[in-house]
Amino acid sequence: MESPEQTHTAIYPGTFDPPTNGHIDIIERALRLFQNVIVAVSPNRRKAPLFSLDERLAMIRDATKEMPNLNVESFDGLLVSYVRKKKAIAIIRGIRAVSDFEYEFQMALMNRKLDLNVETLFLMPSQDYCYLSSSLIKEVSALGGDVSDLVPKTVSRKLDQMQEVNTE
Ligand code: COA
Repeated sequence: MESPEQTHTAIYPGTFDPPTNGHIDIIERALRLFQNVIVAVSPNRRKAPLFSLDERLAMIRDATKEMPNLNVESFDGLLVSYVRKKKAIAIIRGIRAVSDFEYEFQMALMNRKLDLNVETLFLMPSQDYCYLSSSLIKEVSALGGDVSDLVPKTVSRKLDQMQEVNTE
């Protein structure tokens, strides 16, 4: 039986290469539902991220520094093991469009197969951000497009710095 003081923690995992306003929107929504939210950043070597793990952690920490009850950490290995270690009760994932559904459904069911107690909760970002993805942000920025209103300031600065280095 769960004690009334038990803190309800949710984990929001992802690669966040880089974090976008869509990710921040999901974090804000999750914080309205859970007492404690952990943004769990995966090294995700499979995706060969543009930004290092430390850079991604720093960008999310900076973009969320005003948010109470939020921790930003990295995790390696199986997500369900990390969820268990943190005694979290749910995994949060953002669903932007129907196209996200199949991949997300597969992951959620695999995570449930690995641990029956782990629930996945899907949240919809604001429609302003439904078309966003980290790859699109990187592509548009690398080609000189302005993405400053689609990503946190700290990310925008980082992308600009990268552009300057590339054009030197
Ligand atoms: N706003 C903007 N973009 C969003 C978004 C939102 N609200 N929600 C998702 N996205 C985008 C991301 O930017 C990313 O775009 P990209 O592919 O262009 O980089 C894409 O949607 C999905 O990426 P992300 O949310 O970072 O998730 P992921 O699929 O890269 O991460 C993990 C998946 C890390 C959660 C998963 O690989 C994992 O659990 N790994 C641990 C190992 C494990 O347990 N594996 C078995 C899982 S069943």
